[in-house]
Amino acid sequence: MQSHEQYWDQRFGKEGMIWGTEPSPTAYMAKELFLSHGVRTVFVPGAGYGRNTKAFAQTFGVEGAELSEAAVKIAERWDPDSRIICGSALDDPEPGECYDAIYCYDVLHLFLEPDRRKLVAACLKRLRPGGLVYFTCFSDEDPNNGQGERLEPGTYRYKEGKFAHFFSEEDLKAHFSGMEILETGTLKEMLGGPGEGQHEYILRTIAARKKG
Ligand SMILES: C[S@@+](CC[C@H](N)C(=O)[O-])C[C@H]1O[C@@H](n2cnc3c(N)ncnc32)[C@H](O)[C@@H]1O
Repeated sequence: MQSHEQYWDQRFGKEGMIWGTEPSPTAYMAKELFLSHGVRTVFVPGAGYGRNTKAFAQTFGVEGAELSEAAVKIAERWDPDSRIICGSALDDPEPGECYDAIYCYDVLHLFLEPDRRKLVAACLKRLRPGGLVYFTCFSDEDPNNGQGERLEPGTYRYKEGKFAHFFSEEDLKAHFSGMEILETGTLKEMLGGPGEGQHEYILRTIAARKKG
Protein backbone atom coordinates (compact mmCIF):
# COMPACT_ATOMS: atom_id res chain seq x y z
CA MET A 1 0.00 0.00 0.00
CA GLN A 2 1.34 3.45 -0.96
CA SER A 3 1.83 6.19 1.63
CA HIS A 4 -0.44 9.24 1.44
CA GLU A 5 2.50 11.22 0.13
CA GLN A 6 3.22 8.78 -2.72
CA TYR A 7 -0.48 8.47 -3.63
CA TRP A 8 -1.10 12.23 -3.81
CA ASP A 9 2.24 13.12 -5.37
CA GLN A 10 1.63 10.59 -8.16
CA ARG A 11 -1.90 11.88 -8.77
CA PHE A 12 -0.95 15.58 -8.86
CA GLY A 13 2.11 14.73 -10.98
CA LYS A 14 -0.04 12.89 -13.56
CA GLU A 15 -3.37 14.74 -13.40
CA GLY A 16 -2.31 18.28 -12.42
CA MET A 17 -5.33 20.33 -11.35
CA ILE A 18 -7.38 17.21 -10.58
CA TRP A 19 -10.58 19.01 -9.58
CA GLY A 20 -10.32 21.94 -11.97
CA THR A 21 -9.84 25.59 -11.09
CA GLU A 22 -13.16 26.61 -9.50
CA PRO A 23 -13.12 26.80 -5.69
CA SER A 24 -15.65 24.72 -3.76
CA PRO A 25 -18.88 26.59 -2.83
CA THR A 26 -17.86 25.85 0.76
CA ALA A 27 -14.84 28.15 0.38
CA TYR A 28 -17.25 31.05 -0.26
CA MET A 29 -19.46 29.97 2.66
CA ALA A 30 -16.40 29.86 4.93
CA LYS A 31 -15.25 33.24 3.61
CA GLU A 32 -18.61 34.85 4.53
CA LEU A 33 -18.43 33.35 8.02
CA PHE A 34 -14.81 34.43 8.48
CA LEU A 35 -15.56 37.99 7.30
CA SER A 36 -18.50 38.28 9.70
CA HIS A 37 -16.11 37.40 12.56
CA GLY A 38 -13.34 39.82 11.56
CA VAL A 39 -10.90 37.11 10.48
CA ARG A 40 -7.65 38.35 8.96
CA THR A 41 -5.45 35.25 8.74
CA VAL A 42 -6.37 31.75 7.54
CA PHE A 43 -4.49 28.45 7.65
CA VAL A 44 -5.38 25.73 5.12
CA PRO A 45 -4.21 22.18 5.96
CA GLY A 46 -3.95 19.89 2.92
CA ALA A 47 -4.20 22.90 0.61
CA GLY A 48 -3.61 20.86 -2.57
CA TYR A 49 -2.76 23.02 -5.61
CA GLY A 50 -4.48 26.13 -4.24
CA ARG A 51 -7.96 25.66 -5.77
CA ASN A 52 -9.60 26.88 -2.55
CA THR A 53 -6.87 29.11 -1.09
CA LYS A 54 -7.27 31.32 -4.17
CA ALA A 55 -10.82 32.18 -3.02
CA PHE A 56 -9.33 33.65 0.18
CA ALA A 57 -6.07 35.12 -1.02
CA GLN A 58 -7.28 38.64 -1.93
CA THR A 59 -9.12 39.01 1.38
CA PHE A 60 -7.04 37.27 4.06
CA GLY A 61 -3.40 36.45 4.75
CA VAL A 62 -3.38 32.77 3.73
CA GLU A 63 -0.88 30.07 4.64
CA GLY A 64 -1.16 26.33 4.19
CA ALA A 65 0.55 22.97 4.53
CA GLU A 66 0.44 20.37 1.77
CA LEU A 67 2.07 16.94 1.74
CA SER A 68 2.58 16.65 -2.02
CA GLU A 69 5.49 18.55 -3.51
CA ALA A 70 3.89 18.28 -6.98
CA ALA A 71 0.76 20.04 -5.65
CA VAL A 72 2.81 22.76 -3.95
CA LYS A 73 4.60 23.46 -7.25
CA ILE A 74 1.27 23.95 -9.05
CA ALA A 75 0.00 26.15 -6.18
CA GLU A 76 3.03 28.42 -6.47
CA ARG A 77 1.89 29.30 -10.01
CA TRP A 78 -1.90 29.15 -9.56
CA ASP A 79 -2.14 31.03 -6.26
CA PRO A 80 1.09 32.95 -5.72
CA ASP A 81 -0.57 35.18 -3.08
CA SER A 82 -0.95 32.28 -0.61
CA ARG A 83 2.05 30.75 1.14
CA ILE A 84 1.76 26.97 0.97
CA ILE A 85 4.62 24.98 2.43
CA CYS A 86 5.37 21.33 1.76
CA GLY A 87 4.82 19.35 4.97
CA SER A 88 2.33 17.38 7.02
CA ALA A 89 -0.64 19.13 8.60
CA LEU A 90 -0.48 16.51 11.36
CA ASP A 91 2.78 17.99 12.65
CA ASP A 92 2.78 20.40 15.54
CA PRO A 93 2.95 24.08 14.54
CA GLU A 94 6.18 26.06 14.54
CA PRO A 95 6.57 28.32 17.60
CA GLY A 96 4.56 31.51 17.11
CA GLU A 97 2.24 30.09 14.43
CA CYS A 98 -1.23 31.49 15.18
CA TYR A 99 -4.21 32.10 12.89
CA ASP A 100 -7.68 33.60 13.19
CA ALA A 101 -9.28 30.76 11.20
CA ILE A 102 -8.71 27.37 9.59
CA TYR A 103 -10.40 26.07 6.43
CA CYS A 104 -9.89 22.39 5.69
CA TYR A 105 -11.51 20.87 2.61
CA ASP A 106 -11.86 17.08 2.31
CA VAL A 107 -8.74 16.14 4.26
CA LEU A 108 -10.14 14.93 7.61
CA HIS A 109 -11.77 11.83 6.08
CA LEU A 110 -8.43 10.63 4.66
CA PHE A 111 -7.19 9.33 8.03
CA LEU A 112 -7.87 6.59 10.56
CA GLU A 113 -9.11 7.76 13.95
CA PRO A 114 -5.76 8.44 15.69
CA ASP A 115 -4.61 10.66 12.80
CA ARG A 116 -8.00 12.38 12.53
CA ARG A 117 -7.62 13.34 16.20
CA LYS A 118 -4.04 14.46 15.50
CA LEU A 119 -5.14 16.68 12.59
CA VAL A 120 -7.83 18.40 14.65
CA ALA A 121 -5.46 18.82 17.62
CA ALA A 122 -2.69 20.26 15.41
CA CYS A 123 -5.23 22.71 13.90
CA LEU A 124 -6.46 23.81 17.32
CA LYS A 125 -2.88 24.52 18.41
CA ARG A 126 -2.55 26.87 15.41
CA LEU A 127 -5.76 28.74 16.24
CA ARG A 128 -6.03 31.77 18.50
CA PRO A 129 -8.61 31.66 21.32
CA GLY A 130 -11.97 32.60 19.79
CA GLY A 131 -10.68 31.56 16.33
CA LEU A 132 -12.85 29.66 13.84
CA VAL A 133 -12.58 26.36 11.98
CA TYR A 134 -14.53 25.35 8.87
CA PHE A 135 -14.06 21.71 7.83
CA THR A 136 -15.60 19.59 5.08
CA CYS A 137 -15.51 15.80 4.81
CA PHE A 138 -17.33 12.82 3.27
CA SER A 139 -20.81 12.22 4.65
CA ASP A 140 -22.12 8.83 5.73
CA GLU A 141 -24.88 9.54 3.16
CA ASP A 142 -22.34 9.30 0.32
CA PRO A 143 -22.91 6.16 -1.83
CA ASN A 144 -19.29 5.03 -1.25
CA ASN A 145 -20.00 4.58 2.47
CA GLY A 146 -20.00 0.87 3.29
CA GLN A 147 -18.23 -0.14 0.04
CA GLY A 148 -15.15 -2.38 0.27
CA GLU A 149 -13.15 -3.57 3.29
CA ARG A 150 -14.14 -2.03 6.66
CA LEU A 151 -11.01 -0.78 8.45
CA GLU A 152 -12.67 0.68 11.57
CA PRO A 153 -16.20 1.91 12.32
CA GLY A 154 -17.25 4.19 9.44
CA THR A 155 -13.99 3.78 7.48
CA TYR A 156 -13.86 1.75 4.24
CA ARG A 157 -11.32 0.92 1.55
CA TYR A 158 -13.87 2.02 -1.03
CA LYS A 159 -11.45 2.12 -3.98
CA GLU A 160 -8.26 0.31 -4.96
CA GLY A 161 -5.48 1.80 -2.81
CA LYS A 162 -7.75 4.37 -1.12
CA PHE A 163 -9.82 4.53 2.05
CA ALA A 164 -11.99 7.17 3.66
CA HIS A 165 -13.97 7.79 6.82
CA PHE A 166 -17.65 8.62 6.28
CA PHE A 167 -19.03 10.99 8.93
CA SER A 168 -22.44 11.08 10.53
CA GLU A 169 -23.34 14.47 12.02
CA GLU A 170 -22.78 13.20 15.57
CA ASP A 171 -19.39 11.71 14.66
CA LEU A 172 -18.26 14.97 13.05
CA LYS A 173 -19.38 17.01 16.06
CA ALA A 174 -17.56 14.57 18.36
CA HIS A 175 -14.28 15.29 16.52
CA PHE A 176 -14.68 18.96 17.57
CA SER A 177 -16.15 18.29 21.00
CA GLY A 178 -13.82 20.74 22.78
CA MET A 179 -15.14 23.62 20.67
CA GLU A 180 -18.33 25.66 20.44
CA ILE A 181 -20.14 24.26 17.38
CA LEU A 182 -21.59 27.12 15.29
CA GLU A 183 -23.20 25.18 12.45
CA THR A 184 -23.20 21.90 10.57
CA GLY A 185 -24.51 21.18 7.10
CA THR A 186 -24.52 18.83 4.13
CA LEU A 187 -24.16 19.46 0.42
CA LYS A 188 -23.64 17.65 -2.86
CA GLU A 189 -20.65 18.59 -4.94
CA MET A 190 -19.76 17.65 -8.50
CA LEU A 191 -16.02 17.21 -8.66
CA GLY A 192 -13.74 16.08 -11.40
CA GLY A 193 -11.32 17.03 -14.06
CA PRO A 194 -9.51 15.52 -16.98
CA GLY A 195 -8.25 12.47 -15.04
CA GLU A 196 -11.11 11.01 -13.03
CA GLY A 197 -14.21 12.38 -14.81
CA GLN A 198 -17.10 14.04 -12.96
CA HIS A 199 -18.39 12.46 -9.75
CA GLU A 200 -20.99 13.57 -7.25
CA TYR A 201 -19.93 13.52 -3.59
CA ILE A 202 -22.08 14.07 -0.53
CA LEU A 203 -20.19 16.16 2.01
CA ARG A 204 -20.70 17.33 5.55
CA THR A 205 -19.50 20.69 6.84
CA ILE A 206 -18.85 21.97 10.32
CA ALA A 207 -18.02 25.44 11.62
CA ALA A 208 -16.83 25.84 15.20
CA ARG A 209 -15.16 28.37 17.49
CA LYS A 210 -12.23 27.75 19.82
CA LYS A 211 -13.20 28.47 23.41
CA GLY A 212 -11.27 30.89 25.54
C1 LIG B 1 -8.93 15.41 -1.40
S1 LIG B 1 -7.50 16.39 -1.51
C2 LIG B 1 -8.14 18.02 -1.19
C3 LIG B 1 -7.18 19.08 -1.65
C4 LIG B 1 -7.54 20.50 -1.29
N1 LIG B 1 -7.96 20.64 0.09
C5 LIG B 1 -8.57 21.06 -2.24
O1 LIG B 1 -9.57 21.52 -1.75
O2 LIG B 1 -8.38 21.06 -3.45
C6 LIG B 1 -6.60 15.98 -0.05
C7 LIG B 1 -5.29 16.74 0.06
O3 LIG B 1 -4.71 16.49 1.34
C8 LIG B 1 -3.32 16.35 1.16
N2 LIG B 1 -2.80 15.64 2.34
C9 LIG B 1 -2.97 14.34 2.68
N3 LIG B 1 -2.38 14.07 3.85
C10 LIG B 1 -1.82 15.24 4.27
C11 LIG B 1 -1.06 15.63 5.41
N4 LIG B 1 -0.76 14.76 6.38
N5 LIG B 1 -0.64 16.90 5.49
C12 LIG B 1 -0.93 17.81 4.52
N6 LIG B 1 -1.63 17.51 3.42
C13 LIG B 1 -2.08 16.24 3.30
C14 LIG B 1 -3.19 15.62 -0.16
O4 LIG B 1 -1.90 15.70 -0.70
C15 LIG B 1 -4.26 16.34 -0.98
O5 LIG B 1 -3.74 17.50 -1.56
